[in-house]
Amino acid sequence: MSYKNLIIKENRPNHIAIIMDGNGRWAKKIGNIRLVGHKKGANSVNEVIEACVELEIKYLTLYAFSTENWNRPKTEIEGLMSLLLSTLEKELEKLKKHGVRLKTIGDISKLPQSVELKLKKAIEETATNTGLTLTLALSYSSRWEITEMVKSIVEKYKNTEITENEITSNLIESHLSTKDIPDPELLIRTSGEYRLSNFLLWQIAYTELYFTDTLWPDFKKEDLYKAIADYQKRERRFGKTGEQISNEA
Ligand code: IPE
Ligand code: IPE
Ligand code: MG
Repeated sequence: MSYKNLIIKENRPNHIAIIMDGNGRWAKKIGNIRLVGHKKGANSVNEVIEACVELEIKYLTLYAFSTENWNRPKTEIEGLMSLLLSTLEKELEKLKKHGVRLKTIGDISKLPQSVELKLKKAIEETATNTGLTLTLALSYSSRWEITEMVKSIVEKYKNTEITENEITSNLIESHLSTKDIPDPELLIRTSGEYRLSNFLLWQIAYTELYFTDTLWPDFKKEDLYKAIADYQKRERRFGKTGEQISNEA
């Protein structure tokens, strides 16, 4: 039995976000260096992209490198950056074929220039695609993003007055890096860690959280179907009562 058969089409999440964690531990388990885990993790990225394309999910956001990950050993950072570059080179044509639109959130100016340029080119070349929007969070953290949001609002209103009534959640959202992306319905974190590690803190206010012990390199299509099926069993109440929700249905 595949969990795919359990997925109710009408109730698919529109946006899935994933904290892809556990590459290092996966490699260690088989006595290898961390980069081997990252390479294997890139296969899992392909798997979930393909699954989302097949299921016609509209948005997939992947936490690939956090602001805090800059504190890792230099060799690991370099390995991750060259893996990102080679994966982009290898997969771009397939992304185009599948109608995927690539985006990034995060401070990509901090990445090596070769990676930044490759990303910008891929974003440009896929900008008019209408299938899955794939957002890579790179050099991203929520606190960075929220700080940038405040700076950008201050800059916008520096020569004009802003009244208290104009400060709304819509104004805040329109200055976040996710301004064109709806909030995720489902957030998945692999590797048995129960934390958010500075990811999409504003955007996941009402997101359903799904944690699995599976390490990211072991995460396959079937694991994604399972997470979606689990999400579909939940009642999303948004502060209302269960009775109100059943009456609305
Ligand atoms: C996730 O795997 C990938 C990145 C954060 C870049 P990790 O590298 O964090 O793997 P663990 O958590 O050490 O096992
Ligand atoms: C979160 O994983 C960041 C990414 C998946 C890119 P980490 O492995 O960096 O998170 P912590 O340090 O365990 O919280
Ligand atoms: Mg980790």
